[in-house]
Amino acid sequence: MEWLQKVIAKSGIASRRKAEQLIKEGRVKVNGEVCTKLGTAVSNKDVIMVDGKVIKQETKVYIVINKPRNCLTTTSDDRGRPIILDYIKNVKERIYPVGRLDFDTTGVVILTNDGDFANLLMHPSNEIKKTYRVSISGEVSEDKLDRLRAGLRISKEEFSPAYVEFVKYNPENGKSTVNITIHEGRNHQVKRMFEAIGYKVVKLHRVSIGHISDKGLKFGQYRKLTNEEIEAFYYEE
Ligand code: URA
Repeated sequence: MEWLQKVIAKSGIASRRKAEQLIKEGRVKVNGEVCTKLGTAVSNKDVIMVDGKVIKQETKVYIVINKPRNCLTTTSDDRGRPIILDYIKNVKERIYPVGRLDFDTTGVVILTNDGDFANLLMHPSNEIKKTYRVSISGEVSEDKLDRLRAGLRISKEEFSPAYVEFVKYNPENGKSTVNITIHEGRNHQVKRMFEAIGYKVVKLHRVSIGHISDKGLKFGQYRKLTNEEIEAFYYEE
């Protein structure tokens, strides 16, 4: 659901202020009824008319991209650094990334222009799982990983127990690989969790968000989510 004036503005026929004026002047109908109330919530199932003409609501777009290294998960950057939207071609809707990955982190990012969907993914109470493949310097012991499994307190911050799987230790480069699944999304969370148990993260890749993985996507590649994939988030456990 979105506010009527926002939907009118997004359709491109008026600015937000002008849209509010149109509503107040009684020139807007929702499902055949004149609506003069600002802040009326509408969905894309509602038929909205302005001066007797049906407006075309912005199509909802849902994309998964495999973010490459060295780009920002933002929609603009005043310092001219590469941003994730540089990789998205032929999408005219105003999409934005849901949540962030660090500049040097790779992997799954979902982009959309659907605010409700973005809130669903972000809201802590929904506990959407995110799995990361982490490369750390040094040989990690199960004892140390158990601290992540038990839940951590860093300064005054509590981190919920994580699902952690040791993958391998490579004696040639002295690095360990670990998979970790968390459902929170705090700033630099995975790096901070490993730092707390004495390891530096040297490479970080998000393999999946819920049931959406990087499968079949090279760095910088993206695809649209299917209706089934979108709906499944509403039933995610
Ligand atoms: N945790 C981090 O430390 N960085 C990311 O980019 C994502 C999760």
